[in-house]
Amino acid sequence: MISATPSVFDVAVSQSGSGIDPFVDRHAPDSTHTYYGAGKVALRDGLAGLVDSGENVLVPAYLSPAVVEPFHDLGLESRFYAVEETLAPDFADLESRIDDDTAAVMSVNYFGFPQPGLERIASLSDEYDCYHVDDNAHSPLSVCDGTLLGTHGDLGITTLRKLLPVPDGALLYCTDDEVKSQFSPSSLAGRSGRIAAGDCRFVAASVAERVLETSPSLHRSVEAVLSDGAEDSSSVDPSGRYEAAKVPMSRFSAAVADAADPDAIRAARRENFRAWQEIVDGRNDLTPLFKRLPAGISPYEFPVRTSESEAFLAELEDCGVVGAHTWPILRQNVREDETYETSIRLADELVALPVHQGIEPSAIETVGDRLRR
Ligand SMILES: Cc1ncc(COP(=O)(O)O)c(C=O)c1O
Repeated sequence: MISATPSVFDVAVSQSGSGIDPFVDRHAPDSTHTYYGAGKVALRDGLAGLVDSGENVLVPAYLSPAVVEPFHDLGLESRFYAVEETLAPDFADLESRIDDDTAAVMSVNYFGFPQPGLERIASLSDEYDCYHVDDNAHSPLSVCDGTLLGTHGDLGITTLRKLLPVPDGALLYCTDDEVKSQFSPSSLAGRSGRIAAGDCRFVAASVAERVLETSPSLHRSVEAVLSDGAEDSSSVDPSGRYEAAKVPMSRFSAAVADAADPDAIRAARRENFRAWQEIVDGRNDLTPLFKRLPAGISPYEFPVRTSESEAFLAELEDCGVVGAHTWPILRQNVREDETYETSIRLADELVALPVHQGIEPSAIETVGDRLRR
């Protein structure tokens, strides 16, 4: 069975490496980094000393609903800019939304790849004298043009939870000198020294997941029972998700991050990306979002477009792939606005296939044999 995330029990994950810190130091020598429990809280702290309430921040419309909550926490307005099919900003739309109160423009490196137009966003931010936030939540290990993604702006973030089998964890990068000098970490910065109940719950859930992995049908039944009447993460309101994220990085996450082997993880993810690429190339109802996998990129997932996303997800599940999903659930005001037609279509059509380091490429190839039939 192919799950959405790696498990703490995967051999590839538990091999001991030098950890995340030296990797970040090596690829982002000019930035400082600070640990947090969540990327959203890192965004809040990073911007807190730089902005005034009543200003606005421009963010892509193609985005998970809770990501703008830290801006609202700071009294900022979030303005959504439209994106193209390639996920590049619609620059005419973006520029039309900038005004004298624009404090920052945020780019998003989707699925571990640099957002097309990233350098133009940086120069526009200079031109309009606002900060450039480089949101690299999706992939802490992606390096582009010799520099870690997330550090291509004045400040940026990444999320360890999307890379490692951890309950939480994120990094704030301060790259610009003024950003560095204005940064004043809140009590939510840093790594907790105590093992918390949440750490134990996470490990217990990993054990349960491992047992359920032995049988996709058992997995489906348990999921159905659990979702009966209970709220899944998508139904929790964005501000509730943000408030729940206001905790420092857990001790368990810190231990896993310190033992990780970044180069091995990135290599495994790239191999799995290529395995999906071969399968998808053989089907004319599926269009990969990224045709190439440039050197240095650590893919978060393998995104593919199809007009029949529900049917494709069902087909995948029949083949034992339970970790695929559409992405993202858009914020309600984006979903209801025709200006964001491309983001809405992408959110309906894009299926993200898991490539994490806990998956053996042979497992993907076996799925491929069934999907090709
Ligand atoms: C593009 C993007 N930015 C930021 C975040 C927030 O990261 P975190 O969940 O660590 O707060 C997410 C989370 O899904 C995301 O997808």
